[in-house]
Amino acid sequence: MQKFLFVCLGNICRSPAADGVARAWVARQNLNWQIDSAGTGAWHAGAPPDARMVAAAARRGLDLTDLRARQAVAEDFQTFDHVFAMDRQNLADLRQIQPPAAPGRLDLFLADGDIPDPYYGGDQGFEQVLDQIEARMNVLLESIRRG
Ligand code: 4NP
Repeated sequence: MQKFLFVCLGNICRSPAADGVARAWVARQNLNWQIDSAGTGAWHAGAPPDARMVAAAARRGLDLTDLRARQAVAEDFQTFDHVFAMDRQNLADLRQIQPPAAPGRLDLFLADGDIPDPYYGGDQGFEQVLDQIEARMNVLLESIRRG
């Protein structure tokens, strides 16, 4: 059993999308991996994902409606085997709360670069974010599964 945490800024757009995409992948593979998401900020704590992301995900058969935002905490690095930051600012912010001796691995979700924040843009941005996340998730989780 492996535990994965996806982290963006608000935990209402990119990381809930990653959460839903990862859960669907894990279900298809019949694995018992645990998936969660969080934000480096607390502004949206307790809120469901952005309605635009819920709608875009639903068009792909992903149901994000049960997710609720929460802020990432230092203890997450004890709980999760893999912590993935959706952009480089998220990575820098997570490094600030990562305990020095925490075993949880912290990496950028993309090998090199950012999943752009779609919050202030149009609907197309949400589709592009989902395209990027789906493409990367398949490669990422498959590589972890193969060890
Ligand atoms: P997310 O998008 O980090 O992908 O969840 C954002 C959502 C809200 C805000 C920023 C980014 N905000 O500033 O409220």
